[in-house]
Amino acid sequence: MKKLIIANWKMNPDTPEAAVRLVRAVLRQFKTAEPQNVEAVVAPPYPFLPAVGRALGGGIKLGAQDIFWEARGAYTGEISGGQLAALGVEYVLIGHSERRIHLGETDLMVQKKIRAAFAADLTAVLCVGERERQGADIPSVVGEELAAGLAGVKKDAVKNLVIAYEPVWAISTTPGAAGADTPDSAFRARLYIEKTLKNLYGVRAAARVRIIYGGSVRAANAASFLGEGQMDGLLVGGASLEDEEFGAIAAAAAKFKYLNI
Ligand code: PGA
Repeated sequence: MKKLIIANWKMNPDTPEAAVRLVRAVLRQFKTAEPQNVEAVVAPPYPFLPAVGRALGGGIKLGAQDIFWEARGAYTGEISGGQLAALGVEYVLIGHSERRIHLGETDLMVQKKIRAAFAADLTAVLCVGERERQGADIPSVVGEELAAGLAGVKKDAVKNLVIAYEPVWAISTTPGAAGADTPDSAFRARLYIEKTLKNLYGVRAAARVRIIYGGSVRAANAASFLGEGQMDGLLVGGASLEDEEFGAIAAAAAKFKYLNI
């Protein structure tokens, strides 16, 4: 399976021109990184989706950072899955910790968004992770966020599901961030998530769900999460705004195709 690298631009950059410049620079770097061996996604802010989508061409896919759960209607300010799909969006981040923390997004909202993503044929990237480091054990909140987010989701839908394990304390912009998790602890989180998915959907369906890591990923640590950490991919925030850094992360991910991990 190809490794999946998702660039989460968050609320950056400021203008559509800057977004197009950035995506062009990212594409140039990406093309030197054996792009056929990695699955890459760029998730820009909503208003830049059309321009970034046009600039992307093949190679890198378009992602969105959020979705609303209703398909249409009187929901001022919201964007539906169908509207995203019509812009060429294929992936959507759901339940990112910044939305849970700053926008008060609840597990129930996350659950409805996951279903809306599947209804629109989008791949849902469900973000889970604890706010504080709690010793060596995988915090129970990870299991709770998974169970709540996936409630009512049927087995045949999970082929379009990605789980992003993102400990909040490891996200580069979290105040007092502790830096990236260790590959070893990310691996334990992976095993825990895998077990939860197996219990919910059985071994075969669970095996199709990609489990990725996010939190202070940079070129220097990317390979360790994909290798030792056995992650299926990476969710990259800050470093995805630096074209060379993102290119180097993609290059690291492409190498794993040969290792067949
Ligand atoms: P970071 O962000 O790579 O800047 O830590 C990751 C994320 O929040 O998705």
